[in-house]
Amino acid sequence: MHDVLPEGTAGRRHPIPAAANLRETSDFSPVAARYDATRDLPPALLNAAYDRFALAGLLPRAARVLDAGCGTGQISLPLAARGHAVEGYDVSPDMVRLAQAKAGPGGHALYRVADARCLPVADAGFDVVIASKLFQHVPNWPAAVRELLRALKPGGAFIHLAERGAFSNPVRRYFAAMADGMGFTDRFPGMRRRADLIGLLAASGAAAVEVDLADLAWRKTVRYGDAWDQLRERLFAEFWCLPDAAYDQILADTADWIEAQPDGRDTIVETRPYLSADLFRKPGELDGRTN
Ligand SMILES: C[S@@+](CC[C@H](N)C(=O)[O-])C[C@H]1O[C@@H](n2cnc3c(N)ncnc32)[C@H](O)[C@@H]1O
Repeated sequence: MHDVLPEGTAGRRHPIPAAANLRETSDFSPVAARYDATRDLPPALLNAAYDRFALAGLLPRAARVLDAGCGTGQISLPLAARGHAVEGYDVSPDMVRLAQAKAGPGGHALYRVADARCLPVADAGFDVVIASKLFQHVPNWPAAVRELLRALKPGGAFIHLAERGAFSNPVRRYFAAMADGMGFTDRFPGMRRRADLIGLLAASGAAAVEVDLADLAWRKTVRYGDAWDQLRERLFAEFWCLPDAAYDQILADTADWIEAQPDGRDTIVETRPYLSADLFRKPGELDGRTN
């Protein structure tokens, strides 16, 4: 096992709060500056998904869209560019600042700091609510779902979006398996299973809408050394609950494992992330606009 991390990589670490634990919502401020560089979702595929949502009547023309857990605006800035009026909320002031900087003044997007479980918005003011990779980070996440349903007009669309498999590379899997082995099997403060969200929405009376996104997949090349560097930077909230000592041990074991591969840190794998969405319509009638 390494007692020294590989050259040029030791010591740099974002200041994840020591209190990062499963009772608190995951504020992404410590990783805000690195977020966009490490979470890459091809804009063309996202727009293709939005085209299909519009065709299914889920994105009316010039819709008012609420983006919950908006982060740096990756999901909703393309909606603003399509002429929708976006309001995004996130607990992280740093993520919101980046989103607003990208939106610029006077555009179709406004980003503010707020908790998705308690939003400063009126009842039934939005045609669409969208959440991407949020609920797993939020303790008592059903409160956020209820809050979004409150903000949604009757007949409005609830869009739960995710890119899946984007970080499912062998290095990340090795790290996760080591964490499992040390007993850290519960690593998210919020939603564990998508099925729970789907069940909650169905129980609220919302109707599921099927839109096929199966072909919206892309290729992503991952170099083991880069995947390890991202873990060293503690970029992934999934592992924030690990105490430093456990984190460092797993990191060092992972470095050993990488070095044992024939091409070591220069090993390259291709992964195939894909877009998925859970789509629901709140009971009631939306006005007749279409996109
Ligand atoms: C994985 S990021 C997703 C960001 C964005 N939706 C995207 O798809 O790129 C999760 C975001 O949720 C935010 N967040 C965590 N808990 C939250 C809460 N209770 N209310 C609002 N935002 C929250 C984090 O600060 C972070 O920006």
